[in-house]
Amino acid sequence: MRLAILKEETGLEPRVAGSPDTVKRYLGLGATVVVASGAGVASGIGDADYEGAGASVVADNAAAVSGADLVLAVRRPEAAALKGINPGALVIAIADPHGHEAALTEIAGTGASLFAMELMPRITRAQVMDVLSSQANLAGYRAVIDASSEFGRAFPMMMTAAGTVPAARVFIMGAGVAGLQAIATARRLGAVVSATDVRPAAKEQVESLGAKFIAVEDEEFKQAETAGGYAKAMSAEYQAKQAALTAAHIAKQDIVITTALIPGRPAPKLVAADTVAAMKPGSILIDLAVERGGNVEGAVAGEVVTTANGVKIVGHLNVPGRLAATASQLYAKNLYAFVETLVDKSTKALAVKWDDELVKATLLTKDGAVVHPGFKPADVAPAAAATDASAA
Ligand code: NAI
Repeated sequence: MRLAILKEETGLEPRVAGSPDTVKRYLGLGATVVVASGAGVASGIGDADYEGAGASVVADNAAAVSGADLVLAVRRPEAAALKGINPGALVIAIADPHGHEAALTEIAGTGASLFAMELMPRITRAQVMDVLSSQANLAGYRAVIDASSEFGRAFPMMMTAAGTVPAARVFIMGAGVAGLQAIATARRLGAVVSATDVRPAAKEQVESLGAKFIAVEDEEFKQAETAGGYAKAMSAEYQAKQAALTAAHIAKQDIVITTALIPGRPAPKLVAADTVAAMKPGSILIDLAVERGGNVEGAVAGEVVTTANGVKIVGHLNVPGRLAATASQLYAKNLYAFVETLVDKSTKALAVKWDDELVKATLLTKDGAVVHPGFKPADVAPAAAATDASAA
């Protein structure tokens, strides 16, 4: 069983799919591990660290992939990068399948079975494999650090001989994994923290972290959580009430961090341009939803925008990648936990249980075809297929 750890092709991706720790564990499963040279550098892991753990370092991805049975990556590799892979090999990545059906079909054409880690069910058994949580937690932390570096004031209240500095006021919109970590981090830095969410379960979690909960708690709010624990898209009426309540609150904040997402939909718009315009100069908005369309009107993906009234709207891409060493360490562990379920420990060979719910939920391509029910060509809406074809 030859396992390859790829060097990410895109300059936007500093994370890596394997760590010296997971290399040792894969060797323990009976694998031979090859790593593309330089794969870990942007995450603070040198080739020698991988070699020290027992991996062979090869010149590039082509050499790593050649003859591989299992390929690990952060982002979905291009089909062309999988040339030389063993027939029926497994490729595991954050595969980002939505809107990329043509790319999935190309990967299917290589004969590889592609798995999307982000489709892992959020059940107890799979918590250790939950990349959305491991990465969102870091994004929430980093959002506060980024806010503090853009902010021209201190977070904690300071009583000094030269005068008293008030504590920063921080408002977190969306109290899921990222939002809860942002609350905890801002509190540790000494800010006065408040938060909102549309799921009633979030209220107790927010309050248990010492933040004030602010939300329109009507009948719709009481029904806003799906069985899977995610938010539902809220009605226009609810959103108008929510916007009115939060706009007045936002005007008094120094920092607003937005994290609100609804699975499979564009991010809800939570902060309108006139709300941003009412904020004090020097205030900071961090939009963690910017890659999914953004929660803040005026946020631009990959940019820090300064508005006419001196408010900064921060739209960093790949926020977990801004903590690449930690993000890679946790992602590598998420991957290992999944791979362990795909290997027969006695024969030390791949033994995928194709009817396992974790496999069924994450498997995108197999035996030359796209097999995931959500992404099979017949299931793709014509508009989505057309967009994808023009992008390809
Ligand atoms: P997410 O990334 O999909 O969304 C982030 C947050 O935005 C959510 O809390 C959501 O309720 C909120 N949101 C959506 N629309 C909003 C609006 N209009 N206004 C304000 N907030 C809005 O969610 P995430 O972080 O992935 O977590 C969702 C839930 O799943 C959480 O309760 C989390 O604790 C739970 N969870 C359960 C796991 C498990 O059981 N294994 C693992 C990870 C998370």
